[in-house]
Amino acid sequence: NPKVFILAIESSCDDTAAAVLCNDQVLSNVVANQLVHTQYGGVVPELASRAHQLNIVPVVDAALQKAGIHKEQLSAIAFTQGPGLMGSLLVGSSFAKSLALALQIPLLAVNHMHAHILAHFIAEEGFKKPTFPFLALTISGGHTQIVRVDSYFDLTILGQTTDDAVGEAFDKSAKILGLPYPGGPLVDKYAQLGNPKAYKFTKPKVPGLDFSFSGLKTAILYFIQKQKLLDPNFVTENRNDICASIQHTIIAILMDKLKLAVTETGIKQIAIGGGVSANSGIRKAVKEAEIKYGWQTFVPKFEYTTDNAAMIGIVGYQKYLLEKFETASVVSKARIQF
Ligand code: KG4
Ligand code: ZN
Repeated sequence: NPKVFILAIESSCDDTAAAVLCNDQVLSNVVANQLVHTQYGGVVPELASRAHQLNIVPVVDAALQKAGIHKEQLSAIAFTQGPGLMGSLLVGSSFAKSLALALQIPLLAVNHMHAHILAHFIAEEGFKKPTFPFLALTISGGHTQIVRVDSYFDLTILGQTTDDAVGEAFDKSAKILGLPYPGGPLVDKYAQLGNPKAYKFTKPKVPGLDFSFSGLKTAILYFIQKQKLLDPNFVTENRNDICASIQHTIIAILMDKLKLAVTETGIKQIAIGGGVSANSGIRKAVKEAEIKYGWQTFVPKFEYTTDNAAMIGIVGYQKYLLEKFETASVVSKARIQF
C-alpha cells in the first residue's frame, strides 16, 4: 500500500486544530484552545472566528513540522465542513481550499460528528477498533446522538437530543454553581470527591432513544436557588456532592438510553466519542457495562475525545481511499446530516 499523507484541519467551534496522518496513523495532532471565551461564560462566535484567523497558519505549520512532513509531500487536505459555527467553519474551509488548490491535491470535506465516531479507527497502540455494526454514543457541547454504524459511510441516527446537548447540561449546571466556562471538566473534577447519591434529580421521560436535558438544568437551577435561600453558603459547602449528584444523574440518563439501544438493535458493541466522553464517570460506567451487561465498549484515547483534527484526518483518509473528493466550490454547513 502506498503511503497517504493527509493534512486535516478542524475549526468548527472554538479550537483551531491541525493534524497530519500517514494512512491511519497520526504523525502530529496540534490544538490551539481559545481562552478568550472564558470571561464571557461561553463561546462568542465573532471572537471565535477572529481567533481562528490568527491561529490557523501557526497551527498548520506546527502540525507539519511535528510530523516532519513538507507540504509538497501531502496527498490531500481534509477539513471540517460542518456542523458548527459558520464564521469558524469558513476560516478552516477557505484555508483548506486555498492550500489544496495551490498544491494541486484533492480536497476532502468531513462531517465533524462523523469524525467523532471514526476517531475509533485511528491506529493507536493499546486501543482496539470496533467492528461493524456498532453503536456510537456521541456526546459533545453541541450534540447528543446514538448512531448505528454499519460501515465507514453508512451511519443512521437512532436518537438525539430534542433540546440541550449533554455538554451543555454539564456547562450550564456548572454556570449555576458559579464555575467558569467550560464547566464540564470542573464538574467532573469535583464529582470525583463527592457523594453521587447526596441529592436526587429526576430523570426526564423521553420516548425512544431521544434525549432531553433542558428540564434537568431547570430542576438544578430551582434546587440551588431554594437551598441558597436557606443557606447562602450551600454551594461552596456542598460543591463536591452537588457535582457528583448532577454527574450521576446525567450518566444514568445516558446509560438508560444505551441499554434501550442495545435491546432494540441487538448490537452489543458500544463506542463513545465527543468532548463529554472525556468524563471520568462516563468512561467508568461504560467500562463497567462490559462486565455488567456483556457489552464490548470502546473509549477513545483522551486527546481524541475533545475537538481535534486527527479525527478529521481519519475520515479524510477513508474518503481518500474511495476518492470521495470535493471541488473548491464545496460549501460549509452550520447544520449537516451524515
Ligand atoms: O467535542 P467538544 O470538544 O466540542 C464540541 O463539538 O462541542 O465538546 C466540548 C464539551 C463541553 O461542553 C465540555 O464541557 C465537555 O465537552 N467536556 C466535559 C469534560 N471534558 C469536556 N464534560 C464533562 N466532563 C468532562 N471531563
Ligand atoms: Zn466536537
